[in-house]
Amino acid sequence: TGMITIDPGFKNTGSCESAITFLDGEKGMLRYRGYAIEELAEKADFLEVAYLLIFGELPNKEQLNTFHEDIKAESQVDEEMKKILDGFPKSAHPMGVLSSLTSALIAFNPTSVNISSEKDMYHSIVKILGKFPVLVAWTMRKKKGLPLDYGDDNLGYVENLHKMMFKKPSKEYKCNKIIIDALDKLLILHADHEQNCSTSAVRITGSSHAGLFVSLSAGISALWGPLHGGANQAVIEMLEGIQKDGGDTHKYMAKAKDKNDEFRLMGFGHRVYKNFDPRARIIKKAADEVLEDLGIVDPILDIAKRLEKVALEDPYFVERNLYPNVDFYSGIIYRALGIPREMFTVMFAMGRLPGWIAQWREMRLNHEPIGRPRQVYIGETYRPFKPLEER
Ligand code: CMC
Repeated sequence: TGMITIDPGFKNTGSCESAITFLDGEKGMLRYRGYAIEELAEKADFLEVAYLLIFGELPNKEQLNTFHEDIKAESQVDEEMKKILDGFPKSAHPMGVLSSLTSALIAFNPTSVNISSEKDMYHSIVKILGKFPVLVAWTMRKKKGLPLDYGDDNLGYVENLHKMMFKKPSKEYKCNKIIIDALDKLLILHADHEQNCSTSAVRITGSSHAGLFVSLSAGISALWGPLHGGANQAVIEMLEGIQKDGGDTHKYMAKAKDKNDEFRLMGFGHRVYKNFDPRARIIKKAADEVLEDLGIVDPILDIAKRLEKVALEDPYFVERNLYPNVDFYSGIIYRALGIPREMFTVMFAMGRLPGWIAQWREMRLNHEPIGRPRQVYIGETYRPFKPLEER
């Protein structure tokens, strides 16, 4: 009660206290639980980072091993889930499929709804960490018309994800360390980003004490949009469009600046980062390295670099502090790894999973109240009802 302040887009409104991710938009700084993103991307693997985000500390060997074993014990999904997937047309966007499958999981794991102890919470967490990579892989296999399969518990978490995505029937699976390392790095860079749109969706959904899986499904839906996670697919489509159109980056810059044109430079700008996005720096370097290591020459990378250069020198972009964000170069790496563009945002969701889980867990452990913003009503005052014949 009292004065209600309106803050569209919550640009200056904090929704919670959090001890998970620190982000300094002026300095371009990002830390998970106090650890710098640059160091984590270089030295940690995705599962360690997941543990760190969720439980607050880097695991020792034994903790990591137990965590991984508990996850592996949950790496099967109910066979009936295949029928649900089967019901989708092949043309369905993988993000819609993933969000639906994640919701559907609850029907086969009903005990995951009532979370009354940290033990229950832990069970739900390892369950979803076990099953989500299967859903991600199946979503892609459906798109590619490949048979659905399960993973291999002898592999590391990310390698197993890769195998489930790419294993060809009746062919032996071989992995390339460069690819697994690149995937690990991308997933780590996406793993958390404090109270962004999808994370806020997860926290607010969970604040009604809806279960973890459906809260995550809400997060996946929020991530889908092109202003958020969907930007990585939009970037590649934009770069391909520029390439087809003769490679004239200046023309697209003019479109992006034109206020009568809806077009925005995808992969540019960020709500919080106003000097640079530290993730974009790491990804740009990784894109160069991965393409070189794999011996791929992608003309799209060249267009991206030219576009970045033009934008960084343009007064419109300089005045508005618009820099490449995490999504600008990530799609180029995904492409090099053979991941279809409609799967890019699904890969973002895979990376963001531990962050969403950590944020949901923190919200529940802090006993946060239900999220329920207010409004200022600007509609009609009282009007007497008019019967249908008189309208
Ligand atoms: N191209 C052209 N103009 C832009 C862009 C862009 N990419 N981004 C912002 N602007 C302009 C905007 O038109 C506005 O201009 P003016 O002051 O003249 O009205 C000004 O810059 C401020 O923009 P805003 O929309 O008020 O900023 P915001 O904080 O609400 O939006 C954003 C942030 C990321 C949604 C936006 O920059 C954008 O749409 N970028 C393109 C989509 C994208 O790359 N999204 C990925 C974000 S990072 C990863 C993630 O969150 O998933």
